[in-house]
Amino acid sequence: MIRSFKGITALVTGASSGIGKAMARILASEGANLVLAARNLPRLEQEAADLKGRYSVNVQVFAGDLSQPEIPRKLFEFTRERGLDIDLLVNNAGIGHCGLFEATGSQDIRAMLNLNIEALTVLTHLFLPGMLARKKGGVLNVASTAAFQPIPYLSIYAASKAFVVHFSEALWSECKGRGVRVFCLCPGNTLTRFHQTAGIARSRMFFSASAGDVARFALRKFLRSGSPTAIYGFWNKVMYYAARLSPRRLTVFMTNLMYCSWGRKKG
Ligand SMILES: NC(=O)c1ccc[n+]([C@@H]2O[C@H](COP(=O)([O-])OP(=O)(O)OC[C@H]3O[C@@H](n4cnc5c(N)ncnc54)[C@H](OP(=O)(O)O)[C@@H]3O)[C@@H](O)[C@H]2O)c1
Repeated sequence: MIRSFKGITALVTGASSGIGKAMARILASEGANLVLAARNLPRLEQEAADLKGRYSVNVQVFAGDLSQPEIPRKLFEFTRERGLDIDLLVNNAGIGHCGLFEATGSQDIRAMLNLNIEALTVLTHLFLPGMLARKKGGVLNVASTAAFQPIPYLSIYAASKAFVVHFSEALWSECKGRGVRVFCLCPGNTLTRFHQTAGIARSRMFFSASAGDVARFALRKFLRSGSPTAIYGFWNKVMYYAARLSPRRLTVFMTNLMYCSWGRKKG
């Protein structure tokens, strides 16, 4: 079981920006060695140099598009070739796309499904057996509060995050008592590049948190709470319970109201 991050080796996907970058910084500051993965090599190299200089930890970078089917295995082989046993897998890389479903390009649909669902599942499938054999490890999956209700105009994104929550919670149960902690983080709106990439207006961003606060919360909960899932922030928890207690039609009506003007404009 991982009781502290000191001396462990953690792999963080989506480490070039936002929540993943913030988690990598905290992990390095607590003595974890890192593998940073994302597409943008210069950003990863700059971050790696900074973390090595500041915290004297070992940091390797892997640049690749995880939405391409062969890349998760290449990342696994990258760690094996370097003799790295990954103790903590942080499946953080994820993207969204806002707009009408029928107007969403097939490339965007494939990228979302491949990155948010397939890469996360395949990476977990590749790294988990080693952790179970060593009886030491953790998988931290980043979902979203979008997972808790259908969201018109973000239909695929919200559904993909529902997969992440269900998958993580099932795996949490399978791995309990075997030295491996599976944990799912559900952030709400967080100030990162996510909304710009997804084409969501800043005006849709209510109750926004900083990436640093969300990352600190996630890593603390990973170590100290036994729960499979944690929602960041008081208002996000209120929204979660409101959605659970309301009739489904009302919930979808409300999420439609939140996103329809923007989603329709985008076509
Ligand atoms: N921000 C929010 O409001 C919010 C709320 C709930 C959940 N989340 C979740 O939090 C996670 C992190 O997002 P963020 O908010 O930190 O957004 P972000 O700043 O846009 O970071 C996304 C990260 O994923 C990487 N990435 C994107 N596409 C990739 C691909 N095809 N292959 C490999 N890496 C890829 C990006 O790096 P490159 O561009 O260099 O590849 C970047 O490092 C996501 O799973 C997101 O769904 C975010």
